[in-house]
Amino acid sequence: MHTLPTLTYAYEALEPHIDGLTMHVHHDKHHQTYLDKFNAALSNYPELAKLSAEDLLWHFEDRVKTEAPADIQAALKNHGGGFEHHNIFWEIMSPNGPREAVGDLAAAISSKFISFLDFRTKLIDVATKQFGSGWAWLVLDENKELAIYSLPNQDSPLLNKHYPIMGIDVWEHAYYLKYQNRRPEYLEAIWNVLDWQQIEARYQMGLKKS
Ligand SMILES: [Fe+2]
Repeated sequence: MHTLPTLTYAYEALEPHIDGLTMHVHHDKHHQTYLDKFNAALSNYPELAKLSAEDLLWHFEDRVKTEAPADIQAALKNHGGGFEHHNIFWEIMSPNGPREAVGDLAAAISSKFISFLDFRTKLIDVATKQFGSGWAWLVLDENKELAIYSLPNQDSPLLNKHYPIMGIDVWEHAYYLKYQNRRPEYLEAIWNVLDWQQIEARYQMGLKKS
């Protein structure tokens, strides 16, 4: 059974940028529901249940598609994606921490996108243009190159063996209580709570992932 991660900071710790009520509903209700449905979909597939959510999505083609029927595949893609993406989301935010890339990732971003500001602008742009629900991602692609794009719903970069370094949730549940329809304001505010030490750690994990 997969379990809901406990936040390493208080629900209110990201205020005023991300409000405590949104954090409560997002973590305790939305994330919990993805988890419950993910576990339910795995209940008759003990071998798949042994995989981490990350590995289950990473090995979707060679494991899930050969071991589970189509309806279970769809549930694992949607709810496994929703579960893992929120694990990442809580991990890459904190009330402290550097607010710009550090270490090897800082160098990689400068090399790929000219500057951190240029990268930030491009990521906000894809997040703004994602129609309806989805996520904007910074990933390591199959060549271990940085790339940014958005994907709808809970479709995961992991399904294409792209390692998610960081992602911004643009489902309305991520911002509607505080920002209502003003997604661009949320997409500006979130940079005040992204923790680039944590994101650097994910970059290092992504470089090793195979
Ligand atoms: Fe979400």
